Amino acid sequence: MTNKKIIIKDGQSNNEIELPVLDSILGPNVVDMRSLEKNLGYLSHDPGFMATSSCESKITFIDGNEGKLWYRGYPIEELAENSNFQETAYLLLNDKLPNNKELEDFSNNISNSYNVDPSIRKIIEVFNKDSHPMAIMTACLSYLSAKYHAEIDIKDKEYRYKSTINLISAVPIMSAWILNYILNKDFQEPKKDKSIAENFVNMSFPDLTKEQKEMSAKAMDIIFLLHADHEQNASTSTVRLSGSSETSPYAAIAAGISTLWGPTHGGANEAVINMLEEIKNSDKGVEYYINQAKDKENSFRLMGFGHRIYKNYDPRAKIIQKIAHEYLDGLSNDNPNKPLFDIAMKLEKYALEDDYFVSRKLYPNVDFYSGIVLKAIGIPQSMYTVVFALARTVGWVTHWNEMIEDKNFRIGRPRQLYTGKNKTSYKDIKDR
Ligand code: CMC
Repeated sequence: MTNKKIIIKDGQSNNEIELPVLDSILGPNVVDMRSLEKNLGYLSHDPGFMATSSCESKITFIDGNEGKLWYRGYPIEELAENSNFQETAYLLLNDKLPNNKELEDFSNNISNSYNVDPSIRKIIEVFNKDSHPMAIMTACLSYLSAKYHAEIDIKDKEYRYKSTINLISAVPIMSAWILNYILNKDFQEPKKDKSIAENFVNMSFPDLTKEQKEMSAKAMDIIFLLHADHEQNASTSTVRLSGSSETSPYAAIAAGISTLWGPTHGGANEAVINMLEEIKNSDKGVEYYINQAKDKENSFRLMGFGHRIYKNYDPRAKIIQKIAHEYLDGLSNDNPNKPLFDIAMKLEKYALEDDYFVSRKLYPNVDFYSGIVLKAIGIPQSMYTVVFALARTVGWVTHWNEMIEDKNFRIGRPRQLYTGKNKTSYKDIKDR
């Protein structure tokens, strides 16, 4: 803590208090509001948490203006270039890169937990084939919450480690099983000697050639790594709030999955492909949609362009753009996805050259390219958010552990500005 203070003076009572300023390592310092109510009788009001730091965290740093995303201090570009999803998961959880032995032990712990309870398949089979996979995934998590309920001991480090590894291993296996089910394939078994990304691809698409599997697993691994964490977004904050009641970690992750499902959070890459399909199936042409997006009177927006936080290029988009182009450059003219991807490339060109998009810094975002790559790999659109959840499980469990280890850990309990009725007396029904 610095000696800096913010002084708040109440214009009515003339009382004033000094609020301490807490230093961040990077990004804005924060004003500690905890004594505001006790000393001045007010609460702070911030719907949507636009100006509120909800916790102290050492995990991920984002600077949207500079286009920076760092996990534990490591720029995402360096991790995407040199690391992989499993090593990055170790980094997020342990606050350091592993040596060979540590990585081997961590990977063995993960593969030893690949043996997910096969009863999960019965849960999956209860659903209609056209059920949304995120609903199926939350049901799978509920099953795990029930199965491991008797063991809950969140204050015990060993329990936390065991459930952390279990979740990181089980969510990808269950994702592949959900995909098997909705694609009318037999449930596939994971292999112990394969990474999470390799298993996910091999189990999801057992009929691909070895080369196709390798290329897809490499792309999936980078997609997982890019989505592993993004500091205090809606789903991560949900996992923290839910977990703060000391509930089962499986239940807290299920809450995170439910939050991620929404179209303004994890569902954007699905919306990108829906938009490309709409443009492909209409005879109006790309320019028509570009003009719609630029028209102030029209609420249409180009999906996959712009970002709330990154007002410079989203660093994840730059990385995944390369993979998208690798896929698209290799497509033959008779590939059924070719017309869709040609539209995507036309939109990208417009966005990078047209003054409307350039002046507003509306660059293609990570969802624009991840939608394209997932489509090229053959993942059905409804599964895109599940892929996101699979990767983000690592971030969620990292935040859950950090929260419980925090000496200030207590149940989350936001307050409110009450604007309802004052005290009202009950009236008998015949007098209303
Ligand atoms: N197409 C056309 N115009 C746009 C778009 C777009 N996609 N996005 C923003 N604009 C315009 C907007 O009309 C406004 O113009 P003006 O200054 O003339 O009024 C200007 O750009 C600034 O827009 P904003 O609404 O203030 O920007 P925002 O930060 O509130 O919105 C956004 C960010 C991501 C919600 C928005 O860009 C959008 O709706 N994009 C499309 C949906 C999408 O791709 N979402 C995924 C985001 S990444 C999620 C993740 O990180 O996981």
